[in-house]
Amino acid sequence: MGHRVPRVTQYLTEHFADEGFATLSGYRARGGYETARRVLRDQSPGDVIRMLKKAGLQGRGGAGFDAGTKWSFMPEPHHGPNYLVCNADESEPGSFKDRLLMTRGPHQLLEGILIPAFATGAAMTFLYVRGEYAEPARILRRAIDEATAEGMLGSNVLGTGFAHQVVLVRGAGAYICGEETGLLESLEGKKGQPRRKPPYPAECGAFGRPTTVNNVETFCHVPHIFERGVDWFRSMGTDQSPGTTLFGVSGHVERPGVYELPLGTRLDEIIFEHAGGVPGGRKLKAAIPGGVSMPLLPAGHLDVPMAGEFLRERGSSLGTGGVIVMDETTCMVRVGCVISEFFRDESCGQCTQCREGTGFVHKLFLRIERGAGTAADIDVLEDVAGKMEGATICAFADAAAWPVQGLLRHFRSEFIEHVHTGKCPLPDGFEL
Ligand SMILES: Cc1cc2nc3c(=O)[nH]c(=O)nc-3n(C[C@H](O)[C@H](O)[C@H](O)COP(=O)(O)O)c2cc1C
Ligand code: SF4
Repeated sequence: MGHRVPRVTQYLTEHFADEGFATLSGYRARGGYETARRVLRDQSPGDVIRMLKKAGLQGRGGAGFDAGTKWSFMPEPHHGPNYLVCNADESEPGSFKDRLLMTRGPHQLLEGILIPAFATGAAMTFLYVRGEYAEPARILRRAIDEATAEGMLGSNVLGTGFAHQVVLVRGAGAYICGEETGLLESLEGKKGQPRRKPPYPAECGAFGRPTTVNNVETFCHVPHIFERGVDWFRSMGTDQSPGTTLFGVSGHVERPGVYELPLGTRLDEIIFEHAGGVPGGRKLKAAIPGGVSMPLLPAGHLDVPMAGEFLRERGSSLGTGGVIVMDETTCMVRVGCVISEFFRDESCGQCTQCREGTGFVHKLFLRIERGAGTAADIDVLEDVAGKMEGATICAFADAAAWPVQGLLRHFRSEFIEHVHTGKCPLPDGFEL
């Protein structure tokens, strides 16, 4: 059995109530940077990668790729530098956990960067921050300056002889720059259009050099794993998805916010026990488990442990852990209109299936919501979404297709009702 009873342990956010934790002195007072110092002084890059592989840390940026395995793809630096990228673009609607990690624990993130930087031989980390995140960027800049002035970054990191710089780069408000190769293009000053793979970033990444891209939260777990060990980390979560994660809960709940809980915590527990359930005594209708790219689940399917292996069995995915809750007043066709408008606006336009498909899907949702749709439109919606999947340069088109498929799988009858009655049974207040 791969699923343990979740134990409530918070290590990423343990000190976030203390404002001083965001400063270098406050972070060091809690033992900050001592784990990185010890690792860089006493362990080899190979040891670090082996330990992280044993820990089984899964990337927290959406795809859930094993972090240690990703680091192991990096070649030794040869004829030039290796790079690391910290993906702080966080533009997925429903996802806001990285913002918390950056504003309340900037030095935890920097310490989390130093260990893989050492393991992958990276000379520099590009910290790519979402354009709209002005406050996190300001806090991180200050943290980088403090850490550089005090020798945690620079030519002799923590007195170990390892040299590493962190450079903060601001995005300009495009969702696609969160996709790792779109990010790399943007970093190089070009249009944020994803690259064809191969070559993968570990071979040819930023400025043509071997590069590893990880999410903010992925980095933040690293010092804790090296401080307390693999067995401790694996004592939380599930066999395949160890550790805690930050669930960002929004929508129709009493207490929206970020909750650090073990992976494998049940979705209904997150909604009802931690986020306080649906306000006003209304009934829960559906929830999206991991940001708008992931197929939603109806009320009867929410007893699922929140870990990739269990969500996949239910036809969804963990994504970024951004849980969006919808009560019985929510029209599912309208949900489709809102989500598809986002994807239509954010497609980079390189692939026909994505450029045309996202716009077409949006038009169909709107037509059905306005009562002008036909039964054939529902079939066409399904057909177009199916043709967008798995056929493009990057996973954006999949991310645009999956929510459509989830809506039709679980709420087709609501679409049929719109078509048969020629109107929305749950008219809402805002203009589409
Ligand atoms: C359309 C799209 C948007 C993405 N946006 C983000 C993002 O904002 N932040 C992020 O960390 N990963 C994002 N990703 C995933 C990245 O491509 C990449 O997998 C991730 O940064 C790797 O980090 P991890 O292995 O630590 O999860 C996005 C992927 C796609 C396809
Ligand atoms: S799938 Fe969409 S976002 Fe990704 S490269 Fe193609 S057009 Fe651009």
